[in-house]
Amino acid sequence: MINVGIIGAGFIGRNHFNQYEKLTDQAKVVAICDPVESRRLGDWTGVGGNVADAQGTKRDLHGAKPYADWKQLLADPQVQMVDVCVPTYLHAEMSIAALKAGKHVLCEKPMALTVEQCDEVLKVAAGSPGKFMIAQCIRFWPECVFVKERIKDQRYGSIKAINLRRQASTPGYSLDNWLLDPSLSGGAILDLHVHDVDYVVFMLGKPQAVTAQASTRPGTNSYDRVHSLWHYPSGPVVQIEGFWDMPDGYGFNMGITVLFEKAAIVWDLCTGKPMTVFANGKQPEVPQMGPNDGYFNEIEYFLTCIAGNRSPAVSTPRESRDAVMIALAEKQSATTGKTVPIA
Ligand SMILES: NC(=O)c1ccc[n+]([C@@H]2O[C@H](COP(=O)([O-])OP(=O)(O)OC[C@H]3O[C@@H](n4cnc5c(N)ncnc54)[C@H](O)[C@@H]3O)[C@@H](O)[C@H]2O)c1
Repeated sequence: MINVGIIGAGFIGRNHFNQYEKLTDQAKVVAICDPVESRRLGDWTGVGGNVADAQGTKRDLHGAKPYADWKQLLADPQVQMVDVCVPTYLHAEMSIAALKAGKHVLCEKPMALTVEQCDEVLKVAAGSPGKFMIAQCIRFWPECVFVKERIKDQRYGSIKAINLRRQASTPGYSLDNWLLDPSLSGGAILDLHVHDVDYVVFMLGKPQAVTAQASTRPGTNSYDRVHSLWHYPSGPVVQIEGFWDMPDGYGFNMGITVLFEKAAIVWDLCTGKPMTVFANGKQPEVPQMGPNDGYFNEIEYFLTCIAGNRSPAVSTPRESRDAVMIALAEKQSATTGKTVPIA
């Protein structure tokens, strides 16, 4: 049994709490920290979100100790694993402090706002006894895992093209709207689009270069939309789009089109239709998916790594750092109008 302390009881903190409630044979939430009293006490009626499970409710936290100050949660010897679910500008500082306190650390994506901060986290993680993983839930999403497996086993031949889309109305749910301040969240490129950046790294490794165009929110220098082309010397054409400026009421979509020599795999969450494989000469086929989503799967995986004394291999801290680096290279490309090489 692993005792967990969650820092940040907002949208994703309550989502993670819900996953631990399904994993009671492996983990117990023993502490929750949030400066907002109602949130640390489980009144999540005012906690919104823009993906599944969008509206919070009142929850019984089963006596998890409420902390207003995250440093006090780190000092609690009962807490073995810390789940960092706070705004992005706090990720590096809290991950470093928790690792130095000897805890296992799961931290929400993106790892940090800058490559320098990521490198600092990597350095501390390498010298700490605790396991460390960034919660890149897309690597654990059943549909995304299915595509990754088909690339690996080449059942449909080699891969020709990838188009990924992540499209949302401008998020208005975050506490004091921190998400809309790029100095706190990194804007749409680091907050939303980084999911797909990391997913392409998962599927294909790092590209040789990226070229991007992006659009800023009117009256601000905050990027709200990005269109990116990744260059692989002899690999597939990769296009990725991230929108934070869909009309109000649109909600959220993640979409995947992957074209192989002999088939295409297509999925758009917003249509409500399942992922479908269109193979030449065959009826369209709907592959069977596992019962759980990526949030559950990533947490279960991390708990299994801790229990088995293994460093997470499905999502490594180095790759999460590379995702930040590539997302920032896209931003640089959008700003300069030039293709940016990736080291
Ligand atoms: N994986 C995903 O699909 C996904 C989805 C949403 C958000 N996220 C990530 O999760 C993180 C949090 O986003 P959110 O949507 O939950 O935001 P949110 O605004 O809903 O919640 C953030 C919470 O952190 C708390 N907080 C702020 N400062 C704190 C501090 N010093 N100590 C303790 N708690 C503090 C706030 O009071 C708030 O309750 C972000 O990094 C975001 O990128 C990931």
